[in-house]
Amino acid sequence: MEEDYLWWQRGTIYQIYPRSFMDANGDGVGDLPGILARMDYLQWLGVDALWLSPIYPSPMADFGYDVADYRGIEPLFGTMGDFDRLLTDTHRRGMKLLLDLVPNHTSDLHPWFIESRASRENPRRDWYIWREPSPSGGPPNNWLSVFGGSAWQYDEETGQYYLHSFAVQQPDLNWRNPQVEAAVFDVIRFWLDKGVDGFRVDVIYYLIKDELFRDNPPNPDYKPGEDQYNSQRQIYTYNRPEVHAIIRRMRALFDEYAERVMIGEIYLPVAELMSYYGTNNDEAHLPFNFQLILLPWRASVIREAVRAYEARLPAGGWPNWVLGNHDNHRIATRVGRAQARVAAMLLLTLRGTPTSYYGDELAMLDVEIPLEMVRDVQELGKPGLGLGRDPERTPMQWDGSANAGFATGRPWLPISPDYALYNVATEQEDPASMLRLFRQLLALRRSSPALSTGSYMDLPSSSPDVFSFLREQDDERLLIVLNFSHEARVFSMGGGSAEVVLATVPGHGGFVELALLELAPDAGLILRVGQM
Ligand code: NOJ
Repeated sequence: MEEDYLWWQRGTIYQIYPRSFMDANGDGVGDLPGILARMDYLQWLGVDALWLSPIYPSPMADFGYDVADYRGIEPLFGTMGDFDRLLTDTHRRGMKLLLDLVPNHTSDLHPWFIESRASRENPRRDWYIWREPSPSGGPPNNWLSVFGGSAWQYDEETGQYYLHSFAVQQPDLNWRNPQVEAAVFDVIRFWLDKGVDGFRVDVIYYLIKDELFRDNPPNPDYKPGEDQYNSQRQIYTYNRPEVHAIIRRMRALFDEYAERVMIGEIYLPVAELMSYYGTNNDEAHLPFNFQLILLPWRASVIREAVRAYEARLPAGGWPNWVLGNHDNHRIATRVGRAQARVAAMLLLTLRGTPTSYYGDELAMLDVEIPLEMVRDVQELGKPGLGLGRDPERTPMQWDGSANAGFATGRPWLPISPDYALYNVATEQEDPASMLRLFRQLLALRRSSPALSTGSYMDLPSSSPDVFSFLREQDDERLLIVLNFSHEARVFSMGGGSAEVVLATVPGHGGFVELALLELAPDAGLILRVGQM
């Protein structure tokens, strides 16, 4: 029965990058009152849960992923009063609100770290990971920072190095210290007590590092010129076996509250990703599945990935799919605008909770960032490798007015040059727009038990460019046929006709013959079929 499923299983998640969603006070940076002002839109769109990237006080070295106070609201974004209003309004509209928890590291300006670095004897010294220089005087080992260079920073005052898996301004907390765990668990309680519906937990698989601080071995597949981080196999810095015990305890805390969701941000191969559901579904409810972002966009590849993912899911584990986020190039840039419609159809018809990224519903593109406007710490640390994340973080395009209706002041990142054509107001009026398609897909998913909770079965394909599958629940049976190519393709399956419920391209409507279905370029179809 559909009622047996929880909201985070039936529902869809929409990620808001608060800096870029809506600016209410004219300083060029999005804020909580801005989000509040756009709640009608989010409700109209039809998403079920909003996930906000970090909104806590932060020096913004990594735009909020460097937290200076886990229990506050960054003044740039507003006040706790604004947050409370947003939470109430979200719930009033029947939606859920998820926050971002960043437990692996704090800002170097967090009071905990300020104390920790004050002296070797400070009671909080061991809250972070401090090590002596190596015998030759350099960093303690060869570990690398994701954002470039060594993961160790020397501290003159106390003569030791501290670990930072990310930016120098993001010292890693020491999760082997039970006081750290207790302090972060208190933070989780603080927000869950307020009524927050769950957390997306930042790099949850990084929390524990090798106890012996062994060097990471070289990566034999590394090609010089690539991101230096990939020159090593990161076997001692993340995905350590001991991390699971921590996640289990974290999950137990979530389970003290009704229907809260714990999502883990984990970039690992599927086999290892699955271990984060826990051996008994006692870890993350949803270990984020990034395959639609990471894999080449080919029907045969994606079909095989879905099959393998479904096959590996542990009993009772609920699937999920992510199409975009603030760390990766936008889907419309990766696959093109026409194919992005197919991607949206795929995301919203696969089995499992879908997560979409603000602006992808408009087919927003990455925006080229002139050198002098680069803001992202990753691009600044590793310039020229195409790793900058500013392009996918540009302001939401609301209408055709100045600054796309995002802000009255100068936006913190440039607005897309094509915003006059691709924006909420224009696309709301255009029945053929991506936005209208996205909204229809969301509405269909909500109203269709087959799509929201039904079974999944892939079908043999007449073309390597076509991915087709069935979703079924009770007497509802939907056939999804997706043409991943920019050319016409043919799909054929048995006989009979089927009713087109929704199509990504105009011209596909009414009833089609399944024996020989000619698919337009970039066509995706949702068909209602009878028993076969
Ligand atoms: C993952 C986040 O998504 C990313 O934006 C951030 O830079 C790192 N974690 C570090 O917190």
